[in-house]
Amino acid sequence: MAMLWSWASIFLVAIGGVNGAPSMSSYDFGYEHNAYGAHPLTVFKSAEELEVPKLDMVQSSKSCESSLYTLFTPRGGATHEAQATIIDSSGDLVWTSGWHGQQIYNLMAQDYKGERYLTFWAGNDAVGGHGAGTVFMLDKNYNIYKEVRAAYGLDADLHDFRITENGTALVTVYEIVQHDLKEVGKNHAGPVWDCLIQEVDLETGLAVFQWRALDHWRLTDSYRDIAGDGEGTHAYDFFHMNSIDKDARGNYLTSSRYMHSLTYINGKTGEVIWILGGKRNMFRDLSNGNATNFAYQHDARFSGNDTITIFDNGVDDGHPDIAPTRGLRVKIDEKAMTAEVVTEYLNPHKIHGLSQGSFQTLPNGNVILGYGNSAAFTEYSNNGEVLCDTHFGPESMFGTGGIQSYRVYKYEWHGYPTTTPSTAIRRNSSRNWNFYVSWNGATEVSKWVLQGSDNITSADEHWKELARTKRVGFETAFELHTSYPKYLRAVAMHSEGHMLGMSTPIDTLAVEDQLTSIEGFTFTDNDLSMTQVVMGLGGLFIVGILLRMGISAWNNRPRAYWRLPTKPN
Ligand SMILES: *[C@@H]1O[C@H](CO)[C@@H](O)[C@H](O)[C@H]1NC(C)=O
Ligand SMILES: *[C@@H]1O[C@H](CO)[C@@H](O)[C@H](O)[C@H]1NC(C)=O
Ligand SMILES: *[C@@H]1O[C@H](CO)[C@@H](O)[C@H](O)[C@H]1NC(C)=O
Ligand SMILES: *[C@@H]1O[C@H](CO)[C@@H](O)[C@H](O)[C@H]1NC(C)=O
Ligand SMILES: *[C@@H]1O[C@H](CO)[C@@H](O)[C@H](O)[C@H]1NC(C)=O
Repeated sequence: MAMLWSWASIFLVAIGGVNGAPSMSSYDFGYEHNAYGAHPLTVFKSAEELEVPKLDMVQSSKSCESSLYTLFTPRGGATHEAQATIIDSSGDLVWTSGWHGQQIYNLMAQDYKGERYLTFWAGNDAVGGHGAGTVFMLDKNYNIYKEVRAAYGLDADLHDFRITENGTALVTVYEIVQHDLKEVGKNHAGPVWDCLIQEVDLETGLAVFQWRALDHWRLTDSYRDIAGDGEGTHAYDFFHMNSIDKDARGNYLTSSRYMHSLTYINGKTGEVIWILGGKRNMFRDLSNGNATNFAYQHDARFSGNDTITIFDNGVDDGHPDIAPTRGLRVKIDEKAMTAEVVTEYLNPHKIHGLSQGSFQTLPNGNVILGYGNSAAFTEYSNNGEVLCDTHFGPESMFGTGGIQSYRVYKYEWHGYPTTTPSTAIRRNSSRNWNFYVSWNGATEVSKWVLQGSDNITSADEHWKELARTKRVGFETAFELHTSYPKYLRAVAMHSEGHMLGMSTPIDTLAVEDQLTSIEGFTFTDNDLSMTQVVMGLGGLFIVGILLRMGISAWNNRPRAYWRLPTKPN
């Protein structure tokens, strides 16, 4: 079966080539139809515990931003545990981590007091489509720098967390309040999810600004029916705030999924300045309705003073057939009160973004859309041309929530993990023995050095360089020959020649024993025959003798052995 799928994908690649498209297309039919399961994984021999989605890079182009990493948070019914994940532009893993089995949303890299942090929300998202949790800030060593909660003892919601240039953070907060439900046809007061903007001082944890949707919006403005909500413990989610932005004038822009609108709010008084879209839209639409007809949208941001970008879902789980999902760039004129479509960003596979989703304008002008509940992200040129299109789960699962990521963003990031590199000695699929090394989160490794010693001590003079190779992707392999010292370790080198870290030594003889028992390894195998083992052991013996003989020579070596000038590769 797998054979069939790969033939199909080769066929599709061939067609893509014949069409001569400016970007490369390769649609893996098998991948997209669960030939590798509902949640295809990439496995690393040196880090088997990591849960990393296998990608189908459906379309790729040199015009995609390659200097930034892609940050996303795969989670969902088909996954084992939600992950905060960083990959590079070739799709190779850079860092991934679960968070104590909690749900993870909204992974970003943000600046605070001159330092860059990874920020994300972790907590329980089964609170009516939003969350009760905490925002974490991790420093460049992946240590917790700060845990941020909402002010006034409230839970931080998962939807947004933006650090401002002034050391505050914009946080979405959901709070149940009792509200008169007469206007929506119920003769009593009942629980309603109010939505709050909080701007929180990150140092003191105090709110410097707070705004409540219920002070400015009526329940009847919502497109979401109350149905059985507003009773008992079922609060009515009438507004569903999902993004907060603040502009140079100090005013706020917030997106409401169920109002189908954006609210622009005076940063001093909290008064509503204008509303774009929805039942209370104040703008004249110069695009025959297309600038203001967005629905169930997410991630509304200013992009320049008079332009706003939106991930327009167009649909939601209850209303799947209204409109195509699109990225939308809208120009507004606050004097004339007009709105006009500048660019629409349409997915080549016509994904319906039933929930979640993100829109980010990159520094080079490209746009990246994350498709939320469908495991896909697409990079576009500023004028809407599709450049790169990546799936991190099968297309047949789109819309099911099997694998999803609330948002997908691209950022610069430099990570220096305090862990040690991970190593393993394994045979690969062509049955060659290799020494594998990887280092979860390390972004600055340029080369790996394989060192060997017959003495487990970490004293440098006992270790000698056996091989050196350029880091290739997340995991780098060294081919092993039949003779090698008893202990092997890998040293990570920076491009400027200094050491970044080293693995704990592997006892190669113990590994061989283990593999013999685990993999049913037999000495009749061609790739490591008895003769070779004997030769290997003999080699070891000789290496041992040579080591002893050369010990005085060793002692004359520079002490910090890895600071030797790097050999050109
Ligand atoms: C930061 O503070 C300055 C001075 O008070 C203000 O003008 C600016 O709008 C603030 N920026 C944000 C994003 O809050
Ligand atoms: C509005 O969008 C519809 C559907 O996408 C399209 O057919 C129509 O041409 C658009 N109108 C304008 C004025 O852009
Ligand atoms: C945007 O508005 C701010 C504040 O009014 C102003 O300082 C800035 O020059 C404007 N930028 C552009 C590109 O018009
Ligand atoms: C290993 O190295 C340590 C420290 O240099 C030394 O004391 C010890 O004798 C060595 N062991 C062997 C077996 O060479
Ligand atoms: C297996 O490892 C050998 C030695 O490093 C390498 O030459 C070969 O390409 C590898 N095979 C596969 C399928 O990766």
